[in-house]
Amino acid sequence: MENLYEATVERYRKYVMPTYAPKILFVRGAGARLWDADGREYLDFATGISVCNLGHCHPGVTAAIQKQAATLVHVSNLYMNEVMPRLAEKLISNCFDGVVFFANSGAEANEGMFKFARKIGNATGRNEIISMDNSFHGRTLATLAATGRAKYRKGFEPDTPGFKQVPFNDIEALKSAITEKTCAVVLEPVQGEGGILPADPEYLRQVRALCDEKGILLLFDEVQCGMGRIGTRFAWQSFGVEPDALSMAKAIANGLPMGALIVKRKYAETLTPGTHASTFGGTALVSAAALAVQEAFDRENVLENCRTQGEYLRTRLAEIGKKYSFVKGVRGMGLMIGVVLDREAATLAGLCLKQNLVVLTAGETVLRLLPRLNLTRAEADEGIARISAALEELNTLIQKG
Ligand SMILES: Cc1ncc(COP(=O)(O)O)c(C=O)c1O
Repeated sequence: MENLYEATVERYRKYVMPTYAPKILFVRGAGARLWDADGREYLDFATGISVCNLGHCHPGVTAAIQKQAATLVHVSNLYMNEVMPRLAEKLISNCFDGVVFFANSGAEANEGMFKFARKIGNATGRNEIISMDNSFHGRTLATLAATGRAKYRKGFEPDTPGFKQVPFNDIEALKSAITEKTCAVVLEPVQGEGGILPADPEYLRQVRALCDEKGILLLFDEVQCGMGRIGTRFAWQSFGVEPDALSMAKAIANGLPMGALIVKRKYAETLTPGTHASTFGGTALVSAAALAVQEAFDRENVLENCRTQGEYLRTRLAEIGKKYSFVKGVRGMGLMIGVVLDREAATLAGLCLKQNLVVLTAGETVLRLLPRLNLTRAEADEGIARISAALEELNTLIQKG
């Protein structure tokens, strides 16, 4: 009989483009748990990079997928399906008044957001977008140009024109970068890939005022920090600063691919028939999953739990971190948590995995924790115990030199 793990590794090696280098084969997930092909159980503090925010195979979402899969999966946007506008209504009822365009990924949602900004800006001869150093907006050519980390663009030159970066959380730098060509400023309210770096709330207020003064659009990329991750349904609500448009993706449908762009009501007529489209965007199946996610948020006290467990995890990890000189601090909001080290975080991530805890890194030196938002206190404690053991092991390795 074929060994599933070895056979899968071989199929990857032979037939899958090697843009990733995965080592573990997961075969099942439930709640905060994952199981690999050998039956080993893991606690998941990565949630597929903030995608399965309600945990794996959430019963309400699974039931909605099963029901919709047996009813109507896809008809394209040339026809209506009844689920997508219900989802749009639900999202808007919890955001600012506006309209939604559905896509399939974060990069695609951002592309739509940049097209939206250029469509408005071009009417007055403005089409440049300012983004932030250290940001991440996706891997398509335009979102790469907006991404403030040059290493991702290397080899894919020429850069798509119309984007430039300024230091994050620096209002003077932004002021000096704005020209008569600027149509929009885009930022992540909490930078994710860059290292779990929250915006300073005062900075965000100043950016909003500056954009208003100059007639520039303010765009938030909430792909990673949105959908409850930092303790409010939309990230802007944690800062009390409303953007003109926002993008989201990852967790909208708890694992099925969906991206979305929300723009304020006054911009509802910007992208009109023929100006933007997506074959799969807002398909009935994925919309049903996303609607079930919204219903779970309403019913299951998800946001309050995220804030409480997030506060608990960050406090406990900060206490534990004080024992080790190589831990520089703990930062983040809600359950978007970064443990900042004075060295590469990959070794610590590997040691967590040895403790059967799935984690991520961000930037080079940050251990990134993105557990499910409905995490229990017992699971939080279990995670803390495993991270403590991994830190202790790293300490021993460092001592040994
Ligand atoms: C803030 C942010 N924007 C955009 C993206 C791109 O999303 P996707 O991989 O779904 O295209 C990511 C992905 O990590 C992200 O974190």
